[in-house]
Amino acid sequence: MTENTGGEAGEVVHDYGGLEAYVTGSRHAGCCVILVSDYYGFRAPKLRQIADKVAYSGYYVVVPELLFGDPYTDDPARPFEEWIKTHSPVEAAEKTKPLIAALKKDGMSSIGVGGYCWGGKVAVELSKTKETQAVAIMHPALVVVGDMNEVKRPIQILGGEFDTISPPKLVHQFEDALDQNRAVDHSVKIFPDAPHGFACRYNSSDPFAVKTAEEARVNMVKWFDKYVKY
Ligand SMILES: *[C@@H]1O[C@H](CO)[C@@H](O)[C@H](O)[C@H]1NC(C)=O
Repeated sequence: MTENTGGEAGEVVHDYGGLEAYVTGSRHAGCCVILVSDYYGFRAPKLRQIADKVAYSGYYVVVPELLFGDPYTDDPARPFEEWIKTHSPVEAAEKTKPLIAALKKDGMSSIGVGGYCWGGKVAVELSKTKETQAVAIMHPALVVVGDMNEVKRPIQILGGEFDTISPPKLVHQFEDALDQNRAVDHSVKIFPDAPHGFACRYNSSDPFAVKTAEEARVNMVKWFDKYVKY
């Protein structure tokens, strides 16, 4: 069952491995990118634009709904500390596994995961398994240095100079830990003048912000071209 989404190349499917998802691109691609949203959810129009552009680069792209209709809303009555109790990214990663299985059944033999903010932690959890080929995380949240010791797949980290959630200092600690974890290739970049959210939640009237977000997407696609495309 599908629904029209208006202005987007893809469509929303209601059950893909048990998850609602925005899907875009050709299944014949054989290689797939799963994009995991930030905590504001999978409906963000910009995220779908990114998904469509990644699809034009030759991937089948899936944006799963992992917040189950309950995104974070900046409502002071429900602070982040409360919200996160029912939205564990570790559990979300578990719930992504049946989707990965369904994708493989549909002929996707190579899968990359790109995660933004909250979704960055989901991607990192998935990188600890061998179910995916590579991951990319953009301005991650909730990721800790110890996670990097457990990563088993090539990982790209795109941070922002002005990100207060994963500031450059923390991103460099991730990098140091990855240098110790010789099992995985990694690539780390800090985008100058970029705030948290720069890759998926930017001001479209600000040419610099648009350019930075584009660059982040291009970097992610290059990473997946190296490890996911064949
Ligand atoms: C977005 O960018 C434009 C152009 O730089 C600026 O005038 C506007 O104030 C910005 N909006 C927000 C919400 O920051």
